[in-house]
Amino acid sequence: MSDLLWQKPGIAVDARIQAFLAGDDVVLDREFFLHDIAASRAHAQGLQRIGLLAADELTGLERELEVLADDFRRGAFVLDDRYEDGHSAIEARLTERLGDAGKRIHAGRSRNDQVLVATRLWLKDRLADAQRHARDAAGVALARAEAEADLPLPGYTHLQRAVVSSAGMWWAGWAEAFIDDALRARDTRAWIDANPLGSAAGYGVNLPLERDHTTAALGFGRLQLAATYAQLSRGKFELAALEALGSAMLDLRRLAWDLSLFTSAEFGFVALPPEYVTGSSIMPNKRNPDAVELLRGTYASVAAAKAEIEHLLSLPSGYHRDLQLSKGALFHGFGKGLQALALLPDLLRRMQWQPEAMRAALDPSLYATDLAVDLARQGVPFRDAYRQAADPARWAAGDPQASLAARTSPGAAGDLRLEVLRHRLDAL
Ligand code: ARG
Repeated sequence: MSDLLWQKPGIAVDARIQAFLAGDDVVLDREFFLHDIAASRAHAQGLQRIGLLAADELTGLERELEVLADDFRRGAFVLDDRYEDGHSAIEARLTERLGDAGKRIHAGRSRNDQVLVATRLWLKDRLADAQRHARDAAGVALARAEAEADLPLPGYTHLQRAVVSSAGMWWAGWAEAFIDDALRARDTRAWIDANPLGSAAGYGVNLPLERDHTTAALGFGRLQLAATYAQLSRGKFELAALEALGSAMLDLRRLAWDLSLFTSAEFGFVALPPEYVTGSSIMPNKRNPDAVELLRGTYASVAAAKAEIEHLLSLPSGYHRDLQLSKGALFHGFGKGLQALALLPDLLRRMQWQPEAMRAALDPSLYATDLAVDLARQGVPFRDAYRQAADPARWAAGDPQASLAARTSPGAAGDLRLEVLRHRLDAL
């Protein structure tokens, strides 16, 4: 391993303790290494502006940081346990290439604000991904709601057939849900869009650091002012981001549940594209919706990440090494959640309704509520109308289209007003 930045002369840290301290930290730092490099560049620019770096030193640092980023992207530089962590690796590499200029870069910063700023930048990117995936899913759902508004589908409560509904209503529900999820990701991104760089170890530093410059250079919306709060926001902001992702994952879980039911022979309402379906090692007849089930199960990874970070956050003020453990949870939760969410738009685009099975499921009981409401409209007190309509002898096969139109056409309570959803979607 390269020299530890904090090594005391003549004292070697116990090897097992060192291994325990490190854990998989350096490997995790790969995830935001490019963000750490970007923040290092902004910090170096700030140092030059206050006279702690000469102009040519800054030029050298910017060049070498760019080379390091390139090398990392194409695998020519591997961040591994030669280094204690990604932060040390950057300084080691700059010192190796540039000598004193490399040794100057850590003036006025701490790995504590380095990890904060790298994580914050990373989170902003991941929330933008979550917003995009949720928006794409909403876009497909809305297009299919528009196209399939009249395709009847039983509506269920308690998993028992209830009233006539439609593919359009089902889709519109998902469109609105994922629009809300995209908004939540966008708002959370704005909420955490604050620059912690310059808070150093958590108490600022006796230098006039150009914090406004680094804020603008890194594209942050605002500065995190109180150095003490910057540290305290570690974990809190991660949790908010996971909650935003979790809201999309909750919808994804429920959607996957619907598909899991609808693709069963008992419902038979939906066929998945053959490329999305798996088989059984023993039962040659099986066509299993494993992918849908894994989409459903992925919520667990996001919820587990939230729980792990919440448990870590029982800490007094200031930096504590416990906080390092939030990284693995965060990366794992977002990695799994975004991978699942990214699959959703195509799955939605390609799933196929089976209209015959859907129509066959529209038994006469589904019109009982319509009948009660129609009687009430004709002046029968609703409770009396309800009792009359409860009599199976009065149930007759109705017209699904008429039933749907009465509830969803313009002016009716269930009017989907898809143009409003389209407007909200376009604004995202
Ligand atoms: N890997 C550490 C973390 O994630 C970086 C900060 C280390 N700071 C320290 N004082 N040991 O928290």
